Amino acid sequence: MFISGKKLKSCLLYLLIILVTLSAASLLASKYALSVTHITSTTGKVSSSLRIVQLTDLHDSSFGRGNSRLIRKVKEQDPDVILITGDLVNAKQENTEIAVNLIRNLVKIAPVYCSDGNHEVEYQENYGTDLHELYREAGAQILDREYQDVEIAGQQLRIGGIYGYCLPAKYEGEARADETEFLTRFQDTDRLKILMCHMPVCWVINESLDEWNVDYVFAGHVHGGEVILPFAGGIYAPDMGWFPGRLEGEFKSKDQERTLILSRGLGTTEMIPRFNNIPEIMVVDIDGEK
Ligand SMILES: [Fe+2]
Repeated sequence: MFISGKKLKSCLLYLLIILVTLSAASLLASKYALSVTHITSTTGKVSSSLRIVQLTDLHDSSFGRGNSRLIRKVKEQDPDVILITGDLVNAKQENTEIAVNLIRNLVKIAPVYCSDGNHEVEYQENYGTDLHELYREAGAQILDREYQDVEIAGQQLRIGGIYGYCLPAKYEGEARADETEFLTRFQDTDRLKILMCHMPVCWVINESLDEWNVDYVFAGHVHGGEVILPFAGGIYAPDMGWFPGRLEGEFKSKDQERTLILSRGLGTTEMIPRFNNIPEIMVVDIDGEK
């Protein structure tokens, strides 16, 4: 079949318009829409179900006035506990109101635990503000190389938080002694161990999930690779490079006993905007073995 040059031109033009429209829609959805990812996991360490909502990498984003859409969506999940795994704020913007307002509202839904991301650490260096104190005043529990033994939904939990890579101790000379000291203490319990650790790289690549006796690790930081291409996945992650794979979802240790939950998070500060990457609320149901 012969297509005239004029027809071919208009076909290409239509194609271009469709492509530009879809790209614009994806950019907007990756900034303003919200998705909920459900993961169900079983363990012999709980006798009934426990629902965890994880939020990460908000980066001062707003979903509705005062984050009303985000708060409503979290409430709809009816969580037993909410984990915020860092980067609520942006290191180079002095605003803390969005983060504090979010915590104030989330604590009305369930207990809120926070750990630092690199942006909290840099923010405190830049502005000298004690973010931990602000988050605490808003009602959250801040865990910075600390843990709490708590009972939530009838389950005995140890919830901890650390800002660091958590490299296994076998990497002598590279593993940080203070992290090793904390993790050695943290893993020493029969309770269900849940760790908030912003940076996932060592859990994904350096066998931290096999070496540290932690039941569940919740991480963020890599924003799903920022731009997600069909079939190829996220294009780039700090510490992990280009097209590294394993940038979102659930990952198991070799013995299948331990789990890393890696969320794409909610926002970004990168020059390249999120694309094909809808902001994510992570919902994890931990069920007892039948
Ligand atoms: Fe981040």
